[in-house]
Amino acid sequence: MMKITVIHGQSHEGSTCMVARELANKVGGEIREFFLPRDFNRSCLGCYTCFKNDLSDCPHYKELEPLVTAILDCDLLILESPVYVLSLIHI
Ligand SMILES: Cc1cc2nc3c(=O)[nH]c(=O)nc-3n(C[C@H](O)[C@H](O)[C@H](O)COP(=O)(O)O)c2cc1C
Repeated sequence: MMKITVIHGQSHEGSTCMVARELANKVGGEIREFFLPRDFNRSCLGCYTCFKNDLSDCPHYKELEPLVTAILDCDLLILESPVYVLSLIHI
């Protein structure tokens, strides 16, 4: 079965989320969804540990691990985010 991971660039379920879900459902398969920042709210520290050493040594790895696993595991990765310039009300 096709494994699909959707990373939503917002934590609300608006039109962007619906479009991504529609696409994932049309492709069909096992769908896993993550909402940012709800499911992962850390910023990269720029320490390069993931490059120099190993991703599992990332200071945020405990929180990051579910996303990383779902990304590496999937056949199709869908990234989406609405465009917000003036208002962050819906984050
Ligand atoms: C350049 C640009 C800037 C936008 N800025 C905002 C904004 O600041 N606030 C807002 O509510 N919508 C803004 N929009 C409209 C949203 O992107 C649009 O309504 C989108 O469908 C919202 O997606 P959502 O339903 O997933 O939140 C902007 C659109 C564009 C193209």
